[in-house]
Amino acid sequence: MSSETARRTSDIPEQGLPQNAIIKELEAKLQRDFTYSSGKILCSMCTNPHSFAKQIYRNYLEKNLGDPSLFPASIELEQETIRMLGSLLSNPKASGHIVSGGTEANIIALWAARNLAKKERGEVIVPVSAHYSFDKASDLLNLKLIKVKLNRRFQMDVKAAEKAITSKTVAIVGVAGSTGLGVVDSIRELSEIASAHNIYLHVDAAFGGFVLPFLKELGYKPLDFDFRLPGVCSITIDPHKMGLAPIPAGGILFRDAKMSEAISMKVPYLTGGEMKQSTLLGTRSGASAVAVWALLMHLGRAGYAAVVKRCLGLTWKLVEGIQRIDGLDIVTKPTLNVVGVKSDRIDVHLIFQELRKHGWAVSLFLDYLRVVIMPHTKPSYIKRFLEDLQRILENLRT
Ligand SMILES: Cc1ncc(COP(=O)(O)O)c(C=O)c1O
Repeated sequence: MSSETARRTSDIPEQGLPQNAIIKELEAKLQRDFTYSSGKILCSMCTNPHSFAKQIYRNYLEKNLGDPSLFPASIELEQETIRMLGSLLSNPKASGHIVSGGTEANIIALWAARNLAKKERGEVIVPVSAHYSFDKASDLLNLKLIKVKLNRRFQMDVKAAEKAITSKTVAIVGVAGSTGLGVVDSIRELSEIASAHNIYLHVDAAFGGFVLPFLKELGYKPLDFDFRLPGVCSITIDPHKMGLAPIPAGGILFRDAKMSEAISMKVPYLTGGEMKQSTLLGTRSGASAVAVWALLMHLGRAGYAAVVKRCLGLTWKLVEGIQRIDGLDIVTKPTLNVVGVKSDRIDVHLIFQELRKHGWAVSLFLDYLRVVIMPHTKPSYIKRFLEDLQRILENLRT
């Protein structure tokens, strides 16, 4: 038995091991993980980060945005990044932060909304399609989530949302690119309702934020979802999803700085003396923000538009292929690069299990499968996936 296998996995080695041995052990241990390069990941809203962003990230691992007077230049780059994301979302004056992901961004948004509203045991109106990070946020912030039904197009039912407003409502949440089907709620109508009732409106564009701004120039129907709509107070947009940035990189943008001040805390002990902080985390990755900055500069709008064009083109190829398979159909016509697959004849759980046996990773929802076409997906993967799916359906039918 080698010394490596004899070692209990709970022990820190008494004497350190050589780096080469550790690298070999890691390679062996991590082999079971899926890789984006295999083409088999069709379920994730994340992707293999852009190689330039990875390089930049590695260069700046020591940067800590939680200590601004030590890293003022990194903070400045974070704020430039926020302004660039702000202009992508029609408000270059937006304030905010690069955070750890969509979950943290959504928590921060509801935290600000709750503090601004100053209501006891406040309520937040969300569509039933909202990401579960809002359940976490409501639990943490002692808010009650009011979940509103969807309309026939799987969007939040706007009338039901308006009906749900009470004196305790502190926020309405609209989703621009839902987790399950990539559906975009009618943010324009939600903005009108929120403005009329003077209620905070947060838009979760964690996924759609890097797709929707490019639809018009790519010849698709544009959808209003951002700060152009006067009722929108904050937006989640995640660089580590369709932004191609290394994990962790989420974004929370507020219409103006006054909103984020509602959650600012004094930090008494930092290098530069007492300071204010309006993030959930203290120590935060500067490498994340710098990598996002670098990638926005490198790809530019045209680079991101090209990524979106490719993903949407492949999405339509997938849709056509699914509709050709007897027994399968799509749940709804996709708006973004997310496809729901359903069957009226075969239990989708069985299809899911068979796909898994063939090495494919798709997401399983209650009554449909979700396929996300991310930048790592190639046409040849879609072709193989459809061939396997066709065979699986034939076998399950017999
Ligand atoms: C719409 C939406 N919001 C928020 C999140 C949470 O993002 P994260 O996993 O980066 O915390 C997701 C995750 O897929 C999502 O789809």
